[in-house]
Amino acid sequence: MTIGHVIADLSFPIGDIDRRLFGTFVEHIGRCVYGGLFEPGHPEADERGFRRDVLALTRELGATVVRYPGGNFLSGYNWEDGVGPVAERPKRLDLAWFSTEPNTFGTNEFIDWCREAEITPLFCVNLGTRGPDDARRLLEYCNHPGGTALSELRKEHGYTAPHDIKLWGLGNEQDGPWQIGEKTAYEYGRIAKETAKLMRWVDPGIELSACGSSGLEMKSFGAWEYEVLDQCYEQVDFLSLHQYFTNYDGDSADFLGAADPMDRYIREVVAICDAVGAKHRSSKKIMLSFDEYNVWWKARPNGKLKKLEGWPVGPAFNEEIYNFEDALVLGGALIALLNNADRVKIACLAQLVNVIAPIMTEPGGKAWRQPIFFPFADVAKLARGVSLRQATTSETFASKSLGDLNYLLSSTTYDAETKRLAVFVLNRHLEDAMDFTLELRGLPATLEVVETRVLAGYALDATNSAATEPVRPTTHPSVTVDGSTISATLQPASWNVIVLEHG
Ligand code: AHR
Repeated sequence: MTIGHVIADLSFPIGDIDRRLFGTFVEHIGRCVYGGLFEPGHPEADERGFRRDVLALTRELGATVVRYPGGNFLSGYNWEDGVGPVAERPKRLDLAWFSTEPNTFGTNEFIDWCREAEITPLFCVNLGTRGPDDARRLLEYCNHPGGTALSELRKEHGYTAPHDIKLWGLGNEQDGPWQIGEKTAYEYGRIAKETAKLMRWVDPGIELSACGSSGLEMKSFGAWEYEVLDQCYEQVDFLSLHQYFTNYDGDSADFLGAADPMDRYIREVVAICDAVGAKHRSSKKIMLSFDEYNVWWKARPNGKLKKLEGWPVGPAFNEEIYNFEDALVLGGALIALLNNADRVKIACLAQLVNVIAPIMTEPGGKAWRQPIFFPFADVAKLARGVSLRQATTSETFASKSLGDLNYLLSSTTYDAETKRLAVFVLNRHLEDAMDFTLELRGLPATLEVVETRVLAGYALDATNSAATEPVRPTTHPSVTVDGSTISATLQPASWNVIVLEHG
């Protein structure tokens, strides 16, 4: 048995948990849109072609935000192709994924879908092949009330009320050689600044996110963030981060350590944002949008993406089948986000349906939940209010590439309105159970346990399928409360959730 101990005090918050931390991502890629959330003719599809079973699972997942339409797809996308009468919309080659884009689903369908799913859209503008002019035109089409050619065009298309999209992303992964319209940090920073200026003049109520590095592994990481923000610091609100976790070496201990470099990555980007702010003598703080993260490696062996042949429409590719181990890694990533809630205000699990996704669909058949669905749903539902600072004592393990790491990884959140605390704990020991205690300080009254959940006891490679979902949470067998101390025995390799309420 290993030992893990946490002390948290209600008067020492890290920061407010923004509900937009529980976002996801819908890109025109593979079967995410076509054959995913949109499948006209499917027995579960409504009159617009939206799969009701996918909508129901999206609501159950508890996603609050959805980023759209990409991703790499964004950088070659002409939004005009996806609005107006469907029969008149052009088919186009999509050079990001070597597919054919039929454009039968576009901006207006996406907004309709968001309203139905009760999700806030985070819309992105193409800064790969296009620029500020296209971005301001799209925003005018979407948000301007009326009386101009573009806002009247939206009305002609059946949307009298403005879409009122408040969250916007400026391009996607513009540092990547794979990107349509790759740019230097200076080029991108300048375009982001000019685009932001024009967009704010069209609608001053919007929030804007600039692209950070495509990942920690980029050689230009750090320098990219600094230069981009040096150009557009006062014009943007957020800087983005992307990270995909891999396990090519099949080293579970290392893989379960993924949350630690993610946490460090966030802190490093915060430091860079604040360094640029200091240089600009700015009182403004840039917040972070971690708008792509997930496990992604089995569907791209050797780190390479297969180039599709024959320009298919909605091909089945990048359909990562997640296992129990991946769910634990995702739980760790969610804990890292919560423990940086003061600066990470938006995050998007990449993606939502079929492509590296918590929700899968069978063509013409069932929709089902992958194991990663569950830690995300737990956190989206239960992490509310503020994230608390924690003092952690844990035994450590030596990981091959990350050094010594704690077996215990946790986040404690407190919602003063509902008087509820939620504790999310990962036991990263693969063989030993953990004797876990949480000492809560600053409690106004006695505590009682209202809900527990645990994901444990499966083989690390256990998966779900359309036929059966064996990997799913159960209730915790061993949580006790004594005064202000919570104790539990955590199974080896386990994701644990404890919800408490004080009187
Ligand atoms: O999420 C899949 C792809 O990963 C996105 O299109 C791109 O932004 C990233 O490289």
